[in-house]
Amino acid sequence: MANMRGFSLVFAAALLLGVFISIPVGVQCVGVCYGMIGNDLPSKSDVVQLYKSNGITDMRIYLPDVEAMNALRGTGIGLIVGVANDILIDLAANPASAASWVDANVKPFVPAVNIKYIAVGNEISGEPTQNILPAMQNINAALAAASITGVKASTAVKLDVVTNTFPPSAGVFAAPYMTAVAKLLASTGAPLLANIYPYFAYIGNKKDISLNYATFQAGTTVPDPNTGLVYTNLFDAMVDSVYAALDKAGAAGVSIVVSESGWPSAGGDSATIDIARTYVQNLIEHAKKGTPKRPGAIETYVFAMFNENQKPGEATEQNFGAFYPNKTAVYPINFQ
Ligand SMILES: *[C@@H]1O[C@H](CO)[C@@H](O)[C@H](O)[C@H]1NC(C)=O
Repeated sequence: MANMRGFSLVFAAALLLGVFISIPVGVQCVGVCYGMIGNDLPSKSDVVQLYKSNGITDMRIYLPDVEAMNALRGTGIGLIVGVANDILIDLAANPASAASWVDANVKPFVPAVNIKYIAVGNEISGEPTQNILPAMQNINAALAAASITGVKASTAVKLDVVTNTFPPSAGVFAAPYMTAVAKLLASTGAPLLANIYPYFAYIGNKKDISLNYATFQAGTTVPDPNTGLVYTNLFDAMVDSVYAALDKAGAAGVSIVVSESGWPSAGGDSATIDIARTYVQNLIEHAKKGTPKRPGAIETYVFAMFNENQKPGEATEQNFGAFYPNKTAVYPINFQ
């Protein structure tokens, strides 16, 4: 009897595995970030058309732009909408401000606009990080009060929230506020939004990192001695260091959504059209597969839709787009 049961379990497991493997992976997991810091960009409705004609299923915007959100009505395109960093202090301190934000920027658009996540701040650093948790809590309360259940609040972080990123299993959050944020995400079922840039890691350390490893090309295998997992690209190593930090924060069930990743095509070190195309196309393929620690599709947003001529900072910052402002592709990409 015991043997029979053992056999059935193995058989059932094999069946389940068979079913699991036959599920097509990678559907609807690649979006593109729609930054608007340019004075020559197409109209909001033209941009939404460009998403549709390229089969791009998801969009991230950094502010609740009424024109863009109206243009998205009825398209089914999934949306991450951002809360401006400079209002976090108000949303954190005043539940009524969070309620007004939801009333103005979410309520009029659901369900016609497929809002998936609210990014409560983007790459917040320093003292304002103390506002993230209470602002998320106030937004959650405002969503609940408005009976909006399908929209999850999170925050978008950059990799420096994690220390000891190598080997990936050593990753741990650098500050206690991230542990609290991770626990909140675990309780609400929202993912952590993480901006992941192998480009900046690569140009900062070309001595130790090969271009192939940074751009998903073959030739490098890096085993993690603690887990036995083998890394063949920098993106996976970076994402899994964040997963390791979530584990250590007691939030092992929280998923990561890669809320930005990209490569500039001009304006600086290793910024060419050819390398950018290689990175972005390989990123899109890779998003269907996931990481060694978390195999399976990983929802990923390419940064960015357009070159943005008013972005401050290094010249590369203005050259992350897959499209020129005249809607011509900088390089050909298959977004499916
Ligand atoms: C679009 O802009 C790019 C970059 O300025 C230029 O190379 C290209 O010729 C333009 N395409 C059209 C159709 O105007």
